[in-house]
Amino acid sequence: MPYILAIESSCDDTSSAVLHDDRLLSNVIASQKVHEQYGGVVPELASRAHQQNIVPVVDTALHNANITLQQINAIAFTRGPGLLGSLLVGVSFAKSLSQALNIPLIEVNHLQAHILAHFIKHDDTQSVPEFPMLCLLVSGGHTQIVLLHDHLDMEILGQTIDDAAGEAIDKAAKIMDLPYPGGPVIDKLAQSGNPDAFHFATPNIPEFNYSFSGIKTSFLYFLRDQLQNDPQFIEKHKADLCASIQKCIMDFLLKKFEKAALKHHIRQVAIAGGVSANSYLRNSLVQLGQKHHWRVFIPPFQFCTDNAAMVGIAGYFKYLNNDFADISLPPFTR
Ligand code: KG4
Ligand code: ZN
Repeated sequence: MPYILAIESSCDDTSSAVLHDDRLLSNVIASQKVHEQYGGVVPELASRAHQQNIVPVVDTALHNANITLQQINAIAFTRGPGLLGSLLVGVSFAKSLSQALNIPLIEVNHLQAHILAHFIKHDDTQSVPEFPMLCLLVSGGHTQIVLLHDHLDMEILGQTIDDAAGEAIDKAAKIMDLPYPGGPVIDKLAQSGNPDAFHFATPNIPEFNYSFSGIKTSFLYFLRDQLQNDPQFIEKHKADLCASIQKCIMDFLLKKFEKAALKHHIRQVAIAGGVSANSYLRNSLVQLGQKHHWRVFIPPFQFCTDNAAMVGIAGYFKYLNNDFADISLPPFTR
């Protein structure tokens, strides 16, 4: 019955969580506001903010879980992928604490953690997926279709060959001069727009792979043309543009995902990562699940974007396997 302290610092959220087995006791996230004025994450500022946040965030996580450091049995940390300077803060902190407390370290892959978020026990009514399970992992940096044979036995069936889905949405938002990060803003504006107002083509990519850089570029050129005739075009059609580009990206994601699920005779499907907070994607997957009689798993909002609870659950499964990390392990960025 281990207590696991988890630490996540891969990008611009400093987070710490405490789990008792697979049960979540606390999950604290400090989001960094400093990046908003720059329209994207500034790595140096992210690293500095992690340094300021990490001690109070871990402290609060322990306090909210109502346990002391001495009760912790292992420390799980995100080793990568992510920004080097950001990762270093969490990795160094985890290592020092494990030395001081003389308890083992568990390294966690950030992408695996996003997927395993579905196994966090956070209320008594919830059910967890069974295997095999197919997960569409869509974050700011990654887009993958992942087949899970077991908690830690994952097979990547397809992935983006260039930009990630979240990156494409954020860039579309930036082109329209919307604040960063653009995903949640587009989602909100799209609610009052017509998703069929404009059509944007999706590329033909073999198998279960994706490409988003062409969609982004055609969106940019389309707007450039329109703005030449009407400088107010974006202002006038903002909601329709958001709804249309969102539909284009999400339908493309789900079309391949559906194909992969059918080919592999999957009955349990899930989405994970920051973009899985998107309401169009969530609703569309539920509908797809009804059509194919799948069991559909949609993460609660608090586990979609970066958080340490997902690092803790991944750490728990590795703890059961006695899969501990050496103190000399460096972070990895990709
Ligand atoms: O997983 P995440 O928090 O960080 C990475 O590991 O990359 O994902 C962040 C991404 C950003 O691109 C953000 O715009 C997107 O998730 N995102 C959304 C929504 N909420 C966050 N995209 C679409 N709709 C949303 N509601
Ligand atoms: Zn993430």
